[in-house]
Amino acid sequence: MRLSTFPSLITVLLGVTLFTTPPTSAAPNDPAPQDASPPKLRCKCLPSQPCWPSAATWSAFNETVGDRLITTKPVARECHAPNFNQAKCEEVVKGYHTDKWRSLQPGAVVSANWETFRGEGCLLNQTAPCTQGAVPLYTVKALSVADVEATVRFASKHNVRLVVKNTGHDYLGRSTAMHSISLWTHFMKGITFTDKFAPEGAPAGTDGTDAVILEAGVVWEEAYRGAHEHNRLIVGGNHPTVGTSGGFCQSGGHGPLSPRHGLCVDNVLQYKIVTADGMLRTANAHQNQDLFWALRGGGPSYGVVVEAVYRTHPPATFVLAVSNITAPDEATLVAISQAFYAHQSQLSKDGWAGYALTRHTHLFMVYHLPDGTVDNAKATFKPFFDAVRAIPGAKIERENFVPLPTYQAFLDAWAKISSARNVGFNLLLGSRLIPRTLLESSDGPKKLAETMYDILKATAPNTKEYLSMLVVGGKVAEGNSQETSVHPGWRKAGLFNVVYGGWSDDTPFAKQEEFRRTLTKSINRLREMTPGAGTYMNEADAHEPDFKDAFFGPNYARLREIKDKYDPTGLFFCRHCVGSEDWGPKEFCPRCRESTNGGPCTSRG
Ligand SMILES: Cc1cc2nc3c(=O)[nH]c(=O)nc-3n(C[C@H](O)[C@H](O)[C@H](O)COP(=O)(O)OP(=O)(O)OC[C@H]3O[C@@H](n4cnc5c(N)ncnc54)[C@H](O)[C@@H]3O)c2cc1C
Ligand SMILES: *[C@@H]1O[C@H](CO)[C@@H](O)[C@H](O)[C@H]1NC(C)=O
Ligand SMILES: *[C@@H]1O[C@H](CO)[C@@H](O)[C@H](O)[C@H]1NC(C)=O
Ligand SMILES: *[C@@H]1O[C@H](CO)[C@@H](O)[C@H](O)[C@H]1NC(C)=O
Repeated sequence: MRLSTFPSLITVLLGVTLFTTPPTSAAPNDPAPQDASPPKLRCKCLPSQPCWPSAATWSAFNETVGDRLITTKPVARECHAPNFNQAKCEEVVKGYHTDKWRSLQPGAVVSANWETFRGEGCLLNQTAPCTQGAVPLYTVKALSVADVEATVRFASKHNVRLVVKNTGHDYLGRSTAMHSISLWTHFMKGITFTDKFAPEGAPAGTDGTDAVILEAGVVWEEAYRGAHEHNRLIVGGNHPTVGTSGGFCQSGGHGPLSPRHGLCVDNVLQYKIVTADGMLRTANAHQNQDLFWALRGGGPSYGVVVEAVYRTHPPATFVLAVSNITAPDEATLVAISQAFYAHQSQLSKDGWAGYALTRHTHLFMVYHLPDGTVDNAKATFKPFFDAVRAIPGAKIERENFVPLPTYQAFLDAWAKISSARNVGFNLLLGSRLIPRTLLESSDGPKKLAETMYDILKATAPNTKEYLSMLVVGGKVAEGNSQETSVHPGWRKAGLFNVVYGGWSDDTPFAKQEEFRRTLTKSINRLREMTPGAGTYMNEADAHEPDFKDAFFGPNYARLREIKDKYDPTGLFFCRHCVGSEDWGPKEFCPRCRESTNGGPCTSRG
């Protein structure tokens, strides 16, 4: 790419080049510098520097990846002067808030705010000049393991910031970055079902297992369709367009079947991964066990998974329970919430899983019972409904129990109910795993109900609701936290709560920052109420104050060792990933020195 075609980008780059503020004053929420920065980290190369690959080098690289190197631009570019194009902009507007369209754009991610950096970028309704923001400069549309290997080697050799993307669904902005080359796995779509999978390196005679082998670009609706055809179940997310083998499973991966069959990480049999040295490795119970452990809960950033193998399970039927409970005022809503929290452990023991949305005026629940009858569903839900009916003013406006013959029928029913997608908006989350001990304590449910309502009030009008997900307990609670690297809080959790909110495109950056700070602060009471409980990094505050503890807990030190072993130069560095504490707030230089000379990191700033 020639810089002269991007006058506005030059300004951004100059701003970066002249950036000399000490990192400590720039990002108050980032963790403090570490003493033991590995010496191998150095600043990533920027387009303005002599180290940046020449046009001829990019062109030669293009050939090695089968001419699939794409110059990447913000998706809304054609909706802004001087590149305005009516027809193209209309197409952008049509797709802008749909996840499928976004997943197919090299320059897009699902939460639009991550396409900007410090408020600058190119959003649909932003009147400020259209700039590149945090959109990668190049994208490799990878179709093979060879494409992945070539891209990893190229980024490593030229010290160019690399991001890995499948769907761009990441809520922490981990699949896009400024000045980067994006490795886009979305079109690697192989899916194979088998009933005799044995991990490579397993002793001869090892029995085969029911499994599905998924290439890196497969999304859940594709895997589910295959599973339905093969009369099997897989533990995946409840949203059709989330990727199967990227951020989802590496960070934990919860879904409607988790209480019955565990988290995604509890179901992994093997990964194939291209590591920072450009080598393809197999990680399973018999080889590269350390990597296998890290890839099951330690978040992204150890390499590029090109293939994941997950266990499959026998089919089931479901009873779906849909209810809407309304409250005329705050006190009633808090009382309803209290009853809700107080009944979660019993519902969980009775086999229920599900999702509940709390707004200022009502609690909307979609719960499901695998392999249950409608009578059994009604009977086990009754104690909760009885408690609600005893609350003056509370009204159960909707109370449906629907039998569904298959998981696919369950997913279809779900898709009809949940229309709000929050896609293509500016969005931040705050969350916490809620320990069963708190839900089961005498004053826990009340304290929780009040605290959650306070969080909604403190963050309004940017937030409107929060989600409580009963995707824990059961098999998730039985799972051994030593075996996988997920935060042990998952095994002790009785519920997972997420609050979320956003702002319109034209909100001044200072106002965005104000909301971000308010959101982070509002969760503090929940953090204090649940010491050590942790949260799910995929659906978390992107500015989580102590992310090492909240996302990884006691597993952090071991994860860090594994990260340093397989990625000593931080090629796969991403926001709030393991090892990210070594990187500065502008995300292109190690924290020890925010310089731009591309040299080794020797002094500490
Ligand atoms: C609408 C919506 C619904 C969701 N529902 C659920 C849910 O039900 N359960 C749940 O657990 N989570 C859910 N999530 C969160 C989801 O798990 C995360 O957003 C996750 O990061 C998405 O992974 P992805 O690979 O699809 O996204 P991407 O944004 O493409 O990637 C996410 C991260 O994984 C890395 N990555 C991607 N592919 C690879 C690869 N092949 N190898 C190595 N690293 C890779 C990226 O670099 C990035 O760091 C939901 C998110 C959204 C937006
Ligand atoms: C890579 O090659 C293809 C085919 O010639 C071309 O269309 C594309 O623009 C090239 N990419 C870059 C970044 O130049
Ligand atoms: C639940 O009830 C509230 C209040 O009547 C209403 O605003 C909301 O749309 C209802 N939600 C659903 C999904 O039925
Ligand atoms: C952009 O503005 C239009 C019209 O005001 C609005 O309907 C749309 O939701 C806005 N989009 C975003 C992303 O804010």
